[in-house]
Amino acid sequence: MAIYVLLGPPGGGKGTLAKLLRERFGYLHISTGDILREEVRRETPLGRQVRDCMGRGALVPDELVGAVVAARLAEDEIRRRGCFLDGFPRTLVQARLFERLLAEAGLALDRVILMATDDVDRLIKRLTGRRVCGQCRAVCNLVYSPPRQPGRCDHCGGPLEQRGDDTEPTARERLRVYAEQTEPLVRFYEERGLLLRLDAAREGLELLSEVSLALGLS
Ligand code: AP5
Repeated sequence: MAIYVLLGPPGGGKGTLAKLLRERFGYLHISTGDILREEVRRETPLGRQVRDCMGRGALVPDELVGAVVAARLAEDEIRRRGCFLDGFPRTLVQARLFERLLAEAGLALDRVILMATDDVDRLIKRLTGRRVCGQCRAVCNLVYSPPRQPGRCDHCGGPLEQRGDDTEPTARERLRVYAEQTEPLVRFYEERGLLLRLDAAREGLELLSEVSLALGLS
């Protein structure tokens, strides 16, 4: 099965597209942000190490994230179902480490899907408007997909919460960090002939069709 990376700025729609791809085609969705947030929530030793960087919108050290991804790549389920990695790699050091981990596991990276946009205002609206259900983790948006009942999840009625790093100042810092540390990966993967560029401003289901067609998913 294939291995894909979703690359793009905070709010670019990586998580939204990965969820649609999982539902439609059964691919695993491996989000390093979700994994790290769960470690923070459970107050594990890793969670305690990364809580502060995540809270201020900085990247977690490469070696910590690398260890998280190495553990996931060792799982048999990846070979059976294939996966979309969301939020990794995020620095050139991680991209090189990823190449090594894949080679060691006998796996190969098929494509890198870039959710491309320069529209910072839209990204800030998506990030500050995002709400996550405290019960079922469904995601909605106060601007783009508002809940039917204010403060309540449409799926399970659970309480909607804002991610701690989705306040405007922290969202802006995350976008700055993306431009500085992650954007160089666009060229890195372009040079390897792996990059598929999508317009992140488009609607989620349109993006799903486009990516399915381009990758030949069925
Ligand atoms: P992470 O959780 O990966 O956050 P991110 O990359 O900043 O991405 P987001 O989840 O904010 O955005 P997204 O592109 O997934 O957008 P989404 O689809 O949710 O990382 C968080 C932190 O963890 C990092 O800051 C860092 O500290 C740490 N970390 C994680 N990985 C790391 C790594 N590899 N190295 C080091 N540190 C790491 O959409 C956002 C909103 O917009 C939603 O409300 C959604 O409904 C809406 N929306 C999405 N698409 C559309 C659309 N097409 N139209 C309308 N609305 C849309």
